[in-house]
Amino acid sequence: MIKPILLGVNVDHVATIRQARGVSYPDPVHAALQAELAGADGITMHLREDRRHIQDADVERFAACTQTKLNFEMAATSEMRAIALRIRPLDVCIVPEKREELTTEGGLDVASNSNAITELCHELADEQIRVSLFIDPNAEQIDACAKAGAPYIELHTGSYAEARLPAEQAVELQKITEAARYAASLGIIVNAGHGLTRYNVAPIAAIPEVHELNIGHSLIADAMYCGLPEAIRQLRKIMIEARYAGSVGSNPQ
Ligand code: PXP
Repeated sequence: MIKPILLGVNVDHVATIRQARGVSYPDPVHAALQAELAGADGITMHLREDRRHIQDADVERFAACTQTKLNFEMAATSEMRAIALRIRPLDVCIVPEKREELTTEGGLDVASNSNAITELCHELADEQIRVSLFIDPNAEQIDACAKAGAPYIELHTGSYAEARLPAEQAVELQKITEAARYAASLGIIVNAGHGLTRYNVAPIAAIPEVHELNIGHSLIADAMYCGLPEAIRQLRKIMIEARYAGSVGSNPQ
């Protein structure tokens, strides 16, 4: 049986526009609620240490009114751990964070930080928070995630998205495909994201082991032209068609 492919909408860049002027609009919580109505399966907010886009109050307001789920993206710091334990989102995705980066540049090195990450996974799991670790698609990191007891991983698709030549992109796609298969064989649920757009998402959505895609920047950019609900509808259609391609008659839409 073909498993559905879910879309998590990252609204960080709605907040980026707001923060550029220090005003109260556009509101990422408003966008998140609109995204839920348009078919998003969940909403991601990354509360960065430098608070460059999402603010603490955004996370708190949305956690209190979500109709789907909040995926709280955070660095493995004691400050963020305390916020997650207070807000208790359904999902937490742990990411590496560097102040000087424009966006999350690489995956978490779970293999080299296994004690701290294992402890954090257990603390969050004790509060019934589902933990996902954002990693590059390789077996060493997947083994480390299994050892840490993470029920979910999110595979970093940035190298795939940034590949210029088709042959290079095919190599990156193969890494993601193999990593997803390997993680699923260990019982880990596999999400993926970073740099995905309406133009490059289909091959990733077609990987049968991929459960959910988290997409932000390109979606918020598309929303500028056609509105957020329409951008979400179009993206979901591409994802769902890719997932069900070749199995005529079983597409639920
Ligand atoms: N997943 C994770 C873990 C991320 O850090 C990001 C970027 O914030 C995304 C997905 C979404 O990436 P993009 O904004 O490029 O779609």
